[in-house]
Amino acid sequence: MAYELLVNGSRYEIDAPAGMPLAAALRDRLHLTGTKIGCGSGDCGACTVILDGRAVCSCLVPVCRAAGCAIETIEGVGAGEQLHRLQQSFVDTGALQCGFCTPGMIMAGLALLRRNARPTEQDVVDALAGNICRCTGYRKIIEAVVTAAKPSEVRR
Ligand code: FES
Ligand code: FES
Repeated sequence: MAYELLVNGSRYEIDAPAGMPLAAALRDRLHLTGTKIGCGSGDCGACTVILDGRAVCSCLVPVCRAAGCAIETIEGVGAGEQLHRLQQSFVDTGALQCGFCTPGMIMAGLALLRRNARPTEQDVVDALAGNICRCTGYRKIIEAVVTAAKPSEVRR
């Protein structure tokens, strides 16, 4: 089946089975490999993208349902070489080690910051509850999102 996907503001036509997970379509058809696949069953959050404004596990969304929606992936978060302030905050805070969870954390954090410009630490914990990190112990990740929301830290 042919589907039109709107990803990071660009339209793509892909050929894929209707039930192909969006995560796989992004990676295998569009070569947007920033979106990671960990569990493939909605348990780890590595595949988080923003779909029509909401953070979702793209491994659970069939491509037929994503067609026609606005899809945002980690590749669309920065502006060329310029990191988004949330990405920069992850770097400055030291909130990543192996980096496998990072795209999903960024997308979940970004969705939070859009709906809540001044999240509390608990807001961040709740927003990232579906995202698993094997490396960092979460403290730095939470700090990175909270810090990115502070006016003094805003770079753009
Ligand atoms: Fe989608 Fe783990 S790969 S939640
Ligand atoms: Fe390795 Fe999070 S930095 S899984």
